[in-house]
Amino acid sequence: MKKAFVKSYGCQMNAYDATRMADVLGAEGYTATETVEEADVVILNTCHIREKAADKVYSELGRLRVLKGERAQAGQDTRIVVAGCVAQAEGAEILSRAPTVDVVVGPQNYHRLPDLLARSRTKRVVDTEFPVEDKFDHLPARRTLGATAFLTVQEGCDKFCAFCVVPYTRGAEVSRSVAAIRAEAEKLLQGGAREITLIGQNVNAYHGVGLDGGAATLPDLMRVIADLPGLLRLRYTTSHPNDMAPDLVAAHGDLPALMPFLHLPVQSGSDRVLKAMNRKHTADAYRALIADVRAVRPDIALSSDFIVGFPGETEAEFEETLRLVSDIGFASAYSFKYSPRPGTPAAEWADAVPEDVKNRRLQALQTLLDAQRHAFNASFVGATVDVLVEKAGRHPGQVAGKTPHLLPVQFDAPTSTIGTVVPVRIVRAGSNSLFGEAVADAAVAA
Ligand code: SAH
Ligand code: SF4
Ligand code: F3S
Repeated sequence: MKKAFVKSYGCQMNAYDATRMADVLGAEGYTATETVEEADVVILNTCHIREKAADKVYSELGRLRVLKGERAQAGQDTRIVVAGCVAQAEGAEILSRAPTVDVVVGPQNYHRLPDLLARSRTKRVVDTEFPVEDKFDHLPARRTLGATAFLTVQEGCDKFCAFCVVPYTRGAEVSRSVAAIRAEAEKLLQGGAREITLIGQNVNAYHGVGLDGGAATLPDLMRVIADLPGLLRLRYTTSHPNDMAPDLVAAHGDLPALMPFLHLPVQSGSDRVLKAMNRKHTADAYRALIADVRAVRPDIALSSDFIVGFPGETEAEFEETLRLVSDIGFASAYSFKYSPRPGTPAAEWADAVPEDVKNRRLQALQTLLDAQRHAFNASFVGATVDVLVEKAGRHPGQVAGKTPHLLPVQFDAPTSTIGTVVPVRIVRAGSNSLFGEAVADAAVAA
């Protein structure tokens, strides 16, 4: 039996794509392996968002070159595939920088993997064209299913934030039809999924063909999916503030399956910086939007992305970011030092912020965000929360799952609870997980 190893970097979209690539190879007779040494095909599903992410690929390829040589000496063939956003951005350049690579395939072309692997036996291949056919129409059924699943509903981005490579690596916004998404969701639910996260680079800009042939928005789509038998929880990510339409905000108040968690990247609290970033909204517009969401769902947990040290960012402008964070209060967040990316407008700008200033700002921001996260986690101690059990826990006899607010919880229960919702009394909050006890006399909701 041939074996395939897939390693994914970057966002949830890449994680989803990685599972679909495994499905494509599975249909060709490959089994998945987590041991790279025994893999006949190694796929690196790469991310181009920051310099560090892209650099990782080449150091990994260096290790793979050695491994491929060792396997060759033992008479074993190894195909090395670079997929994802570095593949899309750098294309054939990867072949010249890394002679060990056999196939370079972009995010829109991985349904062609079997053909590309076959062709690579005579000549190294690059496939990064945006194809005319829809890859989703050419993907086999999903194989690996758990209690939670990602489902791509939208790809690409038309926003062109001045710092970001995504519009170039993932192309223009394209939405799948409600019918296609519903069919995939039904299969996931039949396979045991209980929570579905609708994903897209800009998921709330979703505008697919509805069941009636007209245009459907994200809330329209969510209502169709929420009605499917077996679905307990619905989430979506990642969103842009400018696409938080009133019907989407309203859905947070009146769609029970929609979980009280919103990841809404803001990037900066300074209007001058937001404008330079081409975000097309102000800090106060973001505050007002959050107030609207909280009005319909007061317990919503908020999450965001931040960039510090964008070109020209002054100390006072950075402090406006801290003020925004203090004003809003986030349950979790990702924060990054600005990293100039080839091909993006901001990469050409001269007024770079020195590295030591970036480091200091990142640390100050993360200290504040960490304090907010700890306070949020600690607020659950003593409370009973519904946990959707996903997998076996860290220790024997334990299971792990998540709360409606997306906090990981560990508690003692048999693995037969996987895929069910169990009420758990939280006894302790760690920095990343909660620890609790199943509430014995409460009925276990299916
Ligand atoms: N579509 C999403 C996420 C895009 S990438 C959105 O619109 O928010 C995820 C995060 O990476 C971004 O939100 C941003 O905070 C960060 N990021 C993107 N480009 C970056 C860059 N050049 N340097 C540092 N961080 C970056
Ligand atoms: Fe990148 Fe901006 Fe598009 Fe998000 S909205 S993917 S940050 S260009
Ligand atoms: Fe990275 Fe591409 Fe996602 S650049 S963040 S893997 S869309």
